Amino acid sequence: MSENILVATAWPYTNNYLHLGHIAGCYLPADIFARYQRARGNKVIMVSGSDQHGTPVTIAAETEGVQPIDIVNKYRKNHLEVWESLGISYDLFTTTGTDNHIDTVQDIFTKLYNKGLIYKKNMTLLYSEIDNRFLADRYVEGTCPDCNFERARGDQCDQCGKPMDALELINPISKLSGDTPIPKESEHFFLKLSALEQPLLDWIKKKDYWKPNVKNFSLKYLTEGLKDRAITRDIEWGIPIPLEGYETKRIYVWFEAVIGYLSASKEWAQLQNEPDEWQKFWFDKNARSYYFLGKDNIPFHTIIWPGILLGYENHNLPYDVPANEYMNLSGGKFSKSENRAVWTHEFLEKFSADALRYYIVSNMPENSDSDFTWEEFLRRNNDELVATLGNLIHRILTFTFRNFDSKIPEMQKLESSDEKLISEIFITKEKVESNLDICKFRESMRNIMNLAQNTNRYLDSEAPWHSIKTDKDRAGTTMWVSLYAISAIKTFLYPFMPNASLQLGNYLGISSDIDKPNWEVQKPKSGTTLETPLPLFKKLEIDIENPLADE
Ligand code: MF3
Ligand code: ZN
Repeated sequence: MSENILVATAWPYTNNYLHLGHIAGCYLPADIFARYQRARGNKVIMVSGSDQHGTPVTIAAETEGVQPIDIVNKYRKNHLEVWESLGISYDLFTTTGTDNHIDTVQDIFTKLYNKGLIYKKNMTLLYSEIDNRFLADRYVEGTCPDCNFERARGDQCDQCGKPMDALELINPISKLSGDTPIPKESEHFFLKLSALEQPLLDWIKKKDYWKPNVKNFSLKYLTEGLKDRAITRDIEWGIPIPLEGYETKRIYVWFEAVIGYLSASKEWAQLQNEPDEWQKFWFDKNARSYYFLGKDNIPFHTIIWPGILLGYENHNLPYDVPANEYMNLSGGKFSKSENRAVWTHEFLEKFSADALRYYIVSNMPENSDSDFTWEEFLRRNNDELVATLGNLIHRILTFTFRNFDSKIPEMQKLESSDEKLISEIFITKEKVESNLDICKFRESMRNIMNLAQNTNRYLDSEAPWHSIKTDKDRAGTTMWVSLYAISAIKTFLYPFMPNASLQLGNYLGISSDIDKPNWEVQKPKSGTTLETPLPLFKKLEIDIENPLADE
């Protein structure tokens, strides 16, 4: 039976280009998962959008000397281009700037306020007398009280992930003027997380299928005791508070951005001209929602967002939050400020999307941090993608093409070696499925590569280049079985490398509909004419010192 599956990815701030760490952390795994579920015949909506508010954007605007909206437009354009060139298959990638989103956020704010789950209170904040303003979130930096990281930001510590209250910072300084801010009172709205602690705890405790790091990280916050958190800020860039008298304040970016999952689902339904369709994903108790994000985003998706939903109406809480760790750059963090990054759009100007997707899935930081290195990219591409997978496919296609009048030969009599490889196909199918079902992407890719290796071995031991001279029927059967194996590989590859999969389908004379992928392994049809095969992957040479330079 077809299931309803919401695939949600973290909304990238529009203050920067996307580097490979972003792609490995959440966008590629989400896309593989969405493509797989669609191929299996499930109803999927994959939604996200630009996170365009908050201090990450205003700081970038001030640094570049432009308006926040200019920053949003510049980076949103880049993000959209990356989704397109990398094949990240969103059903909707909207922004937090739409009227629909603003209405949804204000509605939730008002309902929680009326229920007493949001309340007003005076609080002490850091104020800079030189800059003449409150230093919200990222406008202040200092030492983290938990891990002693010296450049922790006012909203979160980048080293240990602690969501920060800027007043807790040791030696805080203003990002603007560098001076030491003073405490000053300001009135703000608070989300009463303390009242949600027990229901959240009861909910998370049952999540025995969550990744241990996601579950433990969340439980740690809950058992330490949830504090009510301010969800408004003294800034002017963001969503207005739907109450009079607060014109100089805005709703906190994290409170509203997570609501984007719901508002984007509604917008998607509107765009389908079926305005109630979103409800299937949010109220149907059998629907499942998967939230893909990097580890720094965990508490917002396992505590704040479910907390908001618990206080609101009867919406489904996240089913799974398969957060990834980080992919680092040759041993250190990707970091814009230190100019240590490989930008995805630059990478894709030089190398193919499939090569990148293969590399990333093979090194996906699913359970611990991983490392991007150019040597490893080169090795994976040349030794695995080209030498193992690409050569196998090319060998089978060209041999058949040349010796069987460019047609798929007849299958005559299956011998035990043939049957063994065919059963291998279906064992692989089950393995790939069970790994993809639980978001184990690395392992499922490895299952596919194993099938390729076994097919290589089969081919070498059957040696059709010998049998063709004495027993053409036998050689034909060998090729039919080999084509069966690469037809299966074509099906399994689709979520990982959609371009190569479609291209391979064309060579095999299985022209699949791009919009209707399927998950059945197609038996080769004898007599089908093959297309002239070209290699699917390209061997690369890279100048390691200057990998992205023009030749
Ligand atoms: N903009 C945040 C980041 O880039 C992620 C926001 S996810 C959302 O880290 F759920 F809040 F939208
Ligand atoms: Zn810290």
